[in-house]
Amino acid sequence: MTRQTRVLFVCLGNICRSPTAQGVFEQLVRDAGLDALIAVDSAGTGDWHLGKAPDQRARQAALGRGVDIGHLRARLVTPADFDHFDYILAMDRANLDALERMKPDWYLGHVGLFLPFAGELGEQDPDEVPDPYYGGFDGFERVYELVYQASLGLLDHIRVHHVDAGER
Ligand code: 4NP
Repeated sequence: MTRQTRVLFVCLGNICRSPTAQGVFEQLVRDAGLDALIAVDSAGTGDWHLGKAPDQRARQAALGRGVDIGHLRARLVTPADFDHFDYILAMDRANLDALERMKPDWYLGHVGLFLPFAGELGEQDPDEVPDPYYGGFDGFERVYELVYQASLGLLDHIRVHHVDAGER
């Protein structure tokens, strides 16, 4: 049997960007019929919102595209996540730095930025998903768009390197 590939999305509060990424990526995985083979979760590096549902604006932006993230609850990244996840993907460099500091020497999975999985995004070609928390609703729509593009690329990547490769 092919081994499950496990993905953890990480941002600061786990109430805006990473739950959006979890919801979007889970939906793509489900639509591809791969939910038995790819597991998805999200977590934050900051503890202000533990146990909270995603920010209302993030819920609204996702729901507008048919993705319901209202059931998700914020949690912290923990050392045990490095035992469990094959891909630990940060929304920005500050969160990547925090993950790099936590990463045990023996970890063989991929810790990196999420957005590069989107490939070319156009002129500015950002590699971070900007923190939308202190901005307006348009920032949340931008987060959704970026996260959606990166999710398409990540699913392709996992298909090629794990699922189709028949990882055993
Ligand atoms: P997130 O957004 O990291 O995408 O969940 C934020 C949520 C809360 C805060 C900052 C960013 N905050 O400062 O409370």
